Amino acid sequence: WYKTQENMLLVISMQGGKCRNQSSLVRLTGTKYSCGGGGCGACTVMVSRYNSTTKAIHHYPATACLVPICSLYGAAVTTVEGVGSIKTRIHPVQERLAKCHGTQCGFCSPGMVMSIYTLLRNHPEPTPEQITKALGGNLCHCTGYRPIVESGKTFCVESTVCELKGSGKCCMDQEDGSLVNRWEQMCTKLYDEDEFQPLDPSQEPIFPPELTVRYFTFVNGRRSKQGERTTWITPATLNDLLELKANFPKAPLVMGNTELGPSIKFKNEFHPVFISPLGLPELHFVNTTDDGVTIGAGYSLAQLNDALHFIVSEQPKEKTKTHRALLKHLRTLPGAQIRNMATLGGHVVSRPNFSDLNPILAAGNAAINLVSKEGQWQIPLNGPVLERSPEADLKSEEIVSSVYIPYSTQWHFVFGLRMAQRQENAFAIVNAGMSVKFEDGTNTIKELQMFYGSVGPTTVSASQTCKQLIGRQWDDQMLSDACRWVLDEIYIPPAAEGGMVEYRRTLIISLLFKFYLKVRRGLNQMDPQKFPDIPEKFMSALEDFPIETPQGIQMFQCVDPHQPPQDPVGHPVMHQSAIKHTTGEAVYIDDMSCIDQELFLAPITSTRAHAKIISIDISEALALPGVVDVITAEDVPGDNNYQGEIFYAQNEVICVGQIVSTVAADTYAHAREAAKKVKITYGDIEPRIITIEQALEHNSFLFDEKKIEQGNVEQAFKYKSLKGSEVHVEGQEHFCMETLSILALPKEDKEMVLHLGTQYPTRVQEYVAAALNVPRNRIACRMKRTGGAFGGKVAKPAVLGAVSAVAANKTGRPIRFILERGDDMLITAGRHPLLRKYKIGFMNNGVIKAADVKYYVNGRSVCIILYLCEISLCFASTQVVEFIVLKSENAYYIPNFRCRGRACKTNPSNTAIRGFGFPQGTVVVEAYITAVASQCNLPPEEVKEINMYKRISKTAFKQTFNPEPLQRCWKECLEKSSFYARKLAAEEFNKKNYWKKRGLAIFPMKFSIGIPTAYYNQAAALVHIYLDGSVLVTHGGYELGQGLYTKMIQVASHELNIPQSYIHLSETSTVTVSNGVLTLGSMGTDINGKAVQNACQTLMARLHPIIRKNPKGKWEDWIAKAFEESISLSATGYFKGYQTNMDWEKGEGNAYPYYVYGAACSEVEVDCLTGAHKLLRTDIFMEAAFSINPALDIGQIEGAFIQGMRFYTIEELKYSPEGVLYSRSPDDYKIPTVTEIPEEFYVTLVRSQNPIAIYSSKGLGEARMFLGSSVLFAIYDAVAAARRERGLAKTFVLSSPATPEMIRMMCVDQFTDMIPRDDPSTFTPWSIRVS
Ligand SMILES: Cc1cc2nc3c(=O)[nH]c(=O)nc-3n(C[C@H](O)[C@H](O)[C@H](O)COP(=O)(O)OP(=O)(O)OC[C@H]3O[C@@H](n4cnc5c(N)ncnc54)[C@H](O)[C@@H]3O)c2cc1C
Ligand code: FES
Ligand code: FES
Repeated sequence: WYKTQENMLLVISMQGGKCRNQSSLVRLTGTKYSCGGGGCGACTVMVSRYNSTTKAIHHYPATACLVPICSLYGAAVTTVEGVGSIKTRIHPVQERLAKCHGTQCGFCSPGMVMSIYTLLRNHPEPTPEQITKALGGNLCHCTGYRPIVESGKTFCVESTVCELKGSGKCCMDQEDGSLVNRWEQMCTKLYDEDEFQPLDPSQEPIFPPELTVRYFTFVNGRRSKQGERTTWITPATLNDLLELKANFPKAPLVMGNTELGPSIKFKNEFHPVFISPLGLPELHFVNTTDDGVTIGAGYSLAQLNDALHFIVSEQPKEKTKTHRALLKHLRTLPGAQIRNMATLGGHVVSRPNFSDLNPILAAGNAAINLVSKEGQWQIPLNGPVLERSPEADLKSEEIVSSVYIPYSTQWHFVFGLRMAQRQENAFAIVNAGMSVKFEDGTNTIKELQMFYGSVGPTTVSASQTCKQLIGRQWDDQMLSDACRWVLDEIYIPPAAEGGMVEYRRTLIISLLFKFYLKVRRGLNQMDPQKFPDIPEKFMSALEDFPIETPQGIQMFQCVDPHQPPQDPVGHPVMHQSAIKHTTGEAVYIDDMSCIDQELFLAPITSTRAHAKIISIDISEALALPGVVDVITAEDVPGDNNYQGEIFYAQNEVICVGQIVSTVAADTYAHAREAAKKVKITYGDIEPRIITIEQALEHNSFLFDEKKIEQGNVEQAFKYKSLKGSEVHVEGQEHFCMETLSILALPKEDKEMVLHLGTQYPTRVQEYVAAALNVPRNRIACRMKRTGGAFGGKVAKPAVLGAVSAVAANKTGRPIRFILERGDDMLITAGRHPLLRKYKIGFMNNGVIKAADVKYYVNGRSVCIILYLCEISLCFASTQVVEFIVLKSENAYYIPNFRCRGRACKTNPSNTAIRGFGFPQGTVVVEAYITAVASQCNLPPEEVKEINMYKRISKTAFKQTFNPEPLQRCWKECLEKSSFYARKLAAEEFNKKNYWKKRGLAIFPMKFSIGIPTAYYNQAAALVHIYLDGSVLVTHGGYELGQGLYTKMIQVASHELNIPQSYIHLSETSTVTVSNGVLTLGSMGTDINGKAVQNACQTLMARLHPIIRKNPKGKWEDWIAKAFEESISLSATGYFKGYQTNMDWEKGEGNAYPYYVYGAACSEVEVDCLTGAHKLLRTDIFMEAAFSINPALDIGQIEGAFIQGMRFYTIEELKYSPEGVLYSRSPDDYKIPTVTEIPEEFYVTLVRSQNPIAIYSSKGLGEARMFLGSSVLFAIYDAVAAARRERGLAKTFVLSSPATPEMIRMMCVDQFTDMIPRDDPSTFTPWSIRVS
């Protein structure tokens, strides 16, 4: 924000997009743009307003992407730049987030800072609960949140970060010493709290006094602002508003803009006039009477929350049952930002079918107060209004002035119930508001109301059922009838939008059952003699899982006390860019200043999975203002189909989301508008193969199967064998917080410079050169940092680089291509879904003698061939299949083992993502181990231990390895997680609780590093020493947030024996280091570290004679002397790479340089009625050999674990049967929030040796994804306990992800038995499984 002389405020986020208009004086880049729909928090800013009634200043967080600039009249907006900067002074929030290692890629960090900062402005000494609550609307896909919460907790008074379970005791001081004494050699301090500046609230910027004057209040009359296409009018008074409404009946009222904004942005709604009464005093009030409370429609949901809390604290409990029910939901519906923006009036009027508040308001007999020029009246919310029947719709000239919420009475119960994919900040899958009134002193139903959300296009009332139940007793028979009738009354058709039909039907009655229990308990509390309580075993069904503030300990090896203090290797050094991340000064592609003549690119993508392009009509698009050109395949000067990868679709499209053309225009808005006008006609082509099963039917594969085999599998099946059912593992989206972004600059001599984020710059260079038909030496790729990658920036940046470069070439102007979140999810595609079939031979004691496993991955429609030397690879899909096959044994020795893998040729487009197939493939091994355990009536951990590698062995492809660290991690994990004791405790818990079950799972892991092709393991570096002694390091690896640059500085500092402050690492560029290989496979530090080490050692060898002559000299002296002696102060470094190989003909090889071992144990609690689960605790023991930087390594472990855990449990990509991806925003694809992480999270780096790697370290970036599956199998354990109790088959299929839907439907009971089932042959479902 920038304040001009005229007191006008300019915002960096305008009309819901990032402001890229450089003429507007606003050059603030800290606030990030990631989803554009209020769902991620990357754009969080603090809005402050003066309340002329209370004379107080109200600070609240807001997502800038949904704040219309005109709505900010009179408001002060603080962006991250206003909080602190490196140039002036960094703020304690920024400092602590950075020093606590709460940033990795840094793209979410300014938003995190703003959420914590705003909280501190209101509560300088917050509670841990307030910290967690404040961060609920901010997504981070790198860190796993623990360090972010921890940084916030450093501001809490009563709780230090290591307080254990609220005991007030530090975990390190436990008397029994259970944690510490046994880990004496270990350190736990990843940062030094003593370094933190104190928070001094008196030093915060004051609210601009000029914004408190009359000028900014409503009394000075109506204001209006005329724009290019729209007019914004702010009325002066309520009467003025009604006047306006009468004059502009179709104009919407813009309040929080949280419903209107997304409709305009994503659904193409257009309004020529907006009326904005936000802040109008007549809409902001609370009025309490004897009967109830009336709350102004302009109250935000956060203000509503505060008002309700006040009412609840003032009034007797029995009167405030509706208010309490509302409060419960207000805690978990959207994050803090949306809660502070969205208004009560907007919520009630917009009546979304998923509304969480409307069903409760209706059940609580609330009413809306309407006002128009004609007068005022009240409409009950439990009438037809919520069902949107036309006769009950608001008239266009009416507005809602307030909502009346009556008090409840003694024999009256009101509850809100809700189930969502994620505990916080997620739309409900099904929700309900229910109330019952009894005849006084009895359990005879006098009045009953049940309203459901997300079961149809509107909130739905089960009025018939309720009517039929009047006069009935509140007993089991009533419940049984109620369930049957409500299922008849509320019918979700089998093809209903949103899918999950049987689950939603089950939830309708499961929530009803919860309501029934809650009411029975309430009756018992009122008259225990008359109304028996519910069974003790049912008690835990009453409450949802509480939201706890996570805590834990991280343990790592202490640095040798004899190590020189200046040597940073082994220390938890903060990420090199951390402070820049938190101050917003770290520059990402979209933050780069506009370049003269720059154009913005918007893509037009295929809407068909497989079709002929009949025509492309660009005339209408070309005619629109600002449009410079429309680019298609015909404009590609070189290869448009390069090694199987098509840049602009020509003649045919092969998946939904394939780029067909792009529009280049002077603004992004113009480009996007024009993109909508490009008309493409298609003719479908058969076959259209979307799922693996369809591919198998059509025998559609990308390449030959990959196979490894040992022993004699057929013969070994003489043992007891188990033909497993199919296991499906669905895909996953990378969801990098920074979407794919490119700035392409055409230069002289056919040069093209591309600024972008990619894990494989050489490939971008290659593709762009091919598309432009120029040698590669004309193409420069420059990369400073990127906002997350996770494999998603390996292959696609090359295609998008070529697409942008073609546009830049054609127009001759710089091109900025920033993908919108929806396009990013569609175009970049995700993890390969997998189908597995297996047969296992085993003995009754759990020893597995044989395994024959077949994997199929949903590949893509073309085989992208990558030629390097003479070898060709079908990229990504090949590597994924190879990785799956080679890693498929995980940590287990199976003497007769056959594993085959194939990539199916399909019409979705999939690509690699963190773990490259390992997370999909290995979960299957655990599935069959668990199935064998179940068959043998043995605990899974026993079967794992029996079959685990124990001594120096050979893998199934005959590579020798030593599993000693595996055994150590496993044993430590068993012991220090108190696995057996907790398992017993969980069994006890399960005996006492019928509807909630606990489960534990412990996992060993053997993960191989790198790529089994030797030349992928090479790396180069270039190190310059300048005459002032400063050092510039470059190498071929890329900073993705994993801290590679930080570690390289540590390496250079160690090798050159100079402080880190002397060393700088600016960027990765194909100009400085050529032919760099991919940054993936946990190899970045290994290979680039060796190259940097090599360069530094070369320099030190050159300096050695000078140092010998002047040993007491300073570094600067030696450098000056070297220059005088004409010694080169620049050196290249090279690492030839680990000599890996794999002979697929023989199925043998030394495929990997080394292995990394680990073990994890997770414990969950499952709600059998809803399918929700809570992760109670996770312990990870990860072999790190010698960690170069324990903070970064632990950050990678925790981040990958959380990413893995959600891959196995929540993240679900939904496709239509035609192959259209529905999941294109954080609204419909749920990555974890802060509430999903383990309540207790313990991570230990286990020391070992790894002489072949730099400083005996190990690559740790990828492997932990898989450890997240401990959560999946802990869920399995809990579900198995539920099924045992219910007498169900002990073996069952729990595919991945174990979504709430899957969990609920596996916990079969009287409710799942009751729901209607549909014959699959009679309908086409809304979504399909593509695995
Ligand atoms: C990221 C995100 C997450 C969300 N999560 C949830 C969730 O979990 N659960 C849930 O229930 N909701 C959720 N919502 C929806 C949110 O509650 C509603 O969008 C919000 O309450 C609408 O209020 P608003 O003030 O922003 O309305 P606006 O967008 O400003 O207006 C919406 C509509 O209401 C009309 N209107 C507004 N006020 C009045 C009035 N006083 N009189 C007459 N007409 C009026 C406007 O003309 C407009 O048509 C979420 C929204 C977002 C963006
Ligand atoms: S960009 Fe605004 S919330 Fe995601
Ligand atoms: S650090 Fe949070 S998204 Fe990367």
